[in-house]
Amino acid sequence: MSLSQFRLEGKIALITGGNRGIGLATAQLFAKAGARCMLTARSETDDSRALTDTGEHAFHAADITAPASPDELVEATLERFGRIDILVNNAGVADGGDFHDFDDARLARIMDTNLIAPFRVARSAVRPMLAQSSGAIVNIGSISGYVANKPQLQVAYNSSKAAIHQMTSVMAFEYAARGIRVNALAPGYIRTRMAIDGMEDPEMSKVWADNTPMGRFGTPEEMANCVLFLASDAASFVTGATLVADGGYITH
Ligand SMILES: NC(=O)c1ccc[n+]([C@@H]2O[C@H](COP(=O)([O-])OP(=O)(O)OC[C@H]3O[C@@H](n4cnc5c(N)ncnc54)[C@H](O)[C@@H]3O)[C@@H](O)[C@H]2O)c1
Repeated sequence: MSLSQFRLEGKIALITGGNRGIGLATAQLFAKAGARCMLTARSETDDSRALTDTGEHAFHAADITAPASPDELVEATLERFGRIDILVNNAGVADGGDFHDFDDARLARIMDTNLIAPFRVARSAVRPMLAQSSGAIVNIGSISGYVANKPQLQVAYNSSKAAIHQMTSVMAFEYAARGIRVNALAPGYIRTRMAIDGMEDPEMSKVWADNTPMGRFGTPEEMANCVLFLASDAASFVTGATLVADGGYITH
């Protein structure tokens, strides 16, 4: 037993949505844990540039929903670092409104980004992991995969996240004996750009906080801690799990 199992020395991690929020915090923690990271998002931010400017990490600009992106992303990672040990399937978008008025374009954007793209990126990343007989995939789901959010209505988003939890479970089953672990993280309300409008709206913010037994929102850094555990050798017997990190939101 050793604390070094929580470290990522020598590991190569591919992190989608790595320019801000949970993805960026994960990349920053992974870097401290000894990993080298390939970050991807549509464009770099000052924060992601601070990581890549060290020369240890790299950034690949891409729209994750573009048909060629998953293969290109994996190829770019292999070209730069030679292998992929960890995939963090984190990029996502939220959108809501009445179910009966939710149009096809918005439905397609949610499903393309939150379900089809993570499926396709994982499919591309699993191939080199299979060749090396090792790998860890962490998909970012949500408490929205378990419960209806309130007060906002968002059937498409919630459905996409429930599908990610199930994709995690079934992928874990398929690859368990081939050295690849697949887990998910289901965050509650986390202070990032995705949730900031609601957190700054006094009424919505109150409902969210009142429904979170801890009475507060989570931070991207708290989510990164969970991702690190799932991605590291410390979680060597954990596969097919969805770790809920929500201040107790789904307990009631
Ligand atoms: N913030 C929360 O309260 C919360 C709760 C549960 C789950 N999540 C999930 O956490 C993940 C990260 O979100 P966040 O909270 O950090 O929000 P965020 O908006 O700060 O980050 C989303 C990331 O996804 C990237 N992204 C979105 N669409 C993309 C596309 N088409 N191509 C490439 N990159 C794209 C963005 O560039 C950004 O890096 C998402 O999957 C989200 O659904 C967030």
